Amino acid sequence: MLCALGLGFMLATSVQAATEEEKIIERIKAVGSVCVEGDDTCGGAPAVAASGGARSAEDVYNTKCAACHGTGVAGAPKFGTADWADRAGKGMETLMANAINGINAMPPRGTCADCSDDEIQGSIQYMLDSAK
Ligand code: HEC
Repeated sequence: MLCALGLGFMLATSVQAATEEEKIIERIKAVGSVCVEGDDTCGGAPAVAASGGARSAEDVYNTKCAACHGTGVAGAPKFGTADWADRAGKGMETLMANAINGINAMPPRGTCADCSDDEIQGSIQYMLDSAK
């Protein structure tokens, strides 16, 4: 009985270890795919990662915000429309606070838990600039 429990425990930990390892590999992969300034093996991509790995506003928008702001999901101000001209009146300080804390259907940090404040602000500015 004890032995079976022990085996079960060992199995459980080794399964967990495997998924931990996969997670680590995922993380390393993501870092490994960042294009560093001066590296011309990146297929001519602009060296956006030059300043300490910060993502460009466009990158953050495309990967994190576009899912909702691209089409206006759940009333999200839509990219490239007057929606953003309307929001601009609130001022960056309010927009930042609401983006970071979340507001109504807008999740905190727009689901980008690892975005720095600068990255969030950059992507907001990017969307504001898209306003027509
Ligand atoms: C899951 C969908 C979703 C994602 C992902 C998302 N947003 Fe939003 N966002 C919304 C919705 C919905 C609103 C409208 C909230 C309201 O005013 O009721 C909104 C509103 C906003 C506003 C306006 C807040 C205000 O005070 O008027 C800002 C700024 C904003 N989002 C920034 C971002 C940024 C930056 C990202 C990406 C890092 C992002 N959002 C990702 C759904 C989303």
